[in-house]
Amino acid sequence: MTIGNLERQAAAKSFAAAAIRDVALTSDGKDRAPAATFDGAGEALRDLRSFGRRRGRKATDRQRMLLETVLPRVAVDPEAVASACAPSAAGVRELAAALGFEVAPRELWLEIGFGGGEHLVAQALACSDIGLIGAEPFEDGVVKVLDAIETEAIANIRVLADDVRPLLRALPAASLSRVFVLFPDPWPKRRHQKRRLIQPDFVELLARVLKPGGEFRFASDIDDYVRTALIAITGNPHFSWVVGRPSDWRTRPEDWPQTRYEQKAYREGRKGYFFRFRRI
Ligand SMILES: C[S@@+](CC[C@H](N)C(=O)[O-])C[C@H]1O[C@@H](n2cnc3c(N)ncnc32)[C@H](O)[C@@H]1O
Repeated sequence: MTIGNLERQAAAKSFAAAAIRDVALTSDGKDRAPAATFDGAGEALRDLRSFGRRRGRKATDRQRMLLETVLPRVAVDPEAVASACAPSAAGVRELAAALGFEVAPRELWLEIGFGGGEHLVAQALACSDIGLIGAEPFEDGVVKVLDAIETEAIANIRVLADDVRPLLRALPAASLSRVFVLFPDPWPKRRHQKRRLIQPDFVELLARVLKPGGEFRFASDIDDYVRTALIAITGNPHFSWVVGRPSDWRTRPEDWPQTRYEQKAYREGRKGYFFRFRRI
């Protein structure tokens, strides 16, 4: 390992300690259980459920129309992705074709748990040469994105209306340039914390699908979540925290549109914390 790498690692550790102090720790620091059960070979048998409701109010006629006509056009099928792409292929072109993009996008980005889709839609509109995959099991959120796709004629979004983890396992290695996890479900009760999405095994899934030089963006307003996530991410040798000063995690970068949960956090008197990690 070079001196530069060692220095960067030391800096990341001290920043992690500073950010953890910054968010005023509330937890005792005990390690969390993995968020999945495993067979002997380390393959996940069952992911613990990391999301809440799948459905809210009864769908209106328009919502049903969107689910029946727009979703099939843009839906992502993890099994189809797995059978169309070699697991080790790094080509965006092959994956883009499996996702139904007529012209291969410059890069593919994935937003996990897009909620109401504010960030996903804003990024798709701002970056028309990027292909965006959004994963969200909550139907009301899915419908909001389908509505935007339809009314704003957005061609560069694909939607997985389900748990993202089977897709993460199906995607070819090094196929994504960015992954976003913004304000994940906090699961505040101690007995539920193993359901938190960002755990060491999930971070390893992200490391596999991100290209070297790619970026993982994470935000949270929950102090204890930030603490456990930073431990999981900075503990993974494939990620390096892009950070130079405390304002880097206290301020949302300009090219990072605000989400509904971020607004909710401010209304309820919490702060948002924003993190960028480079896949190395
Ligand atoms: C607290 S909400 C935040 C929504 C949005 N990112 C925002 O900031 O407004 C977290 C979202 O993550 C979704 N989610 C949780 N586990 C997930 C998983 N395994 N795959 C995909 N989405 C998931 C939930 O359904 C929920 O909508």
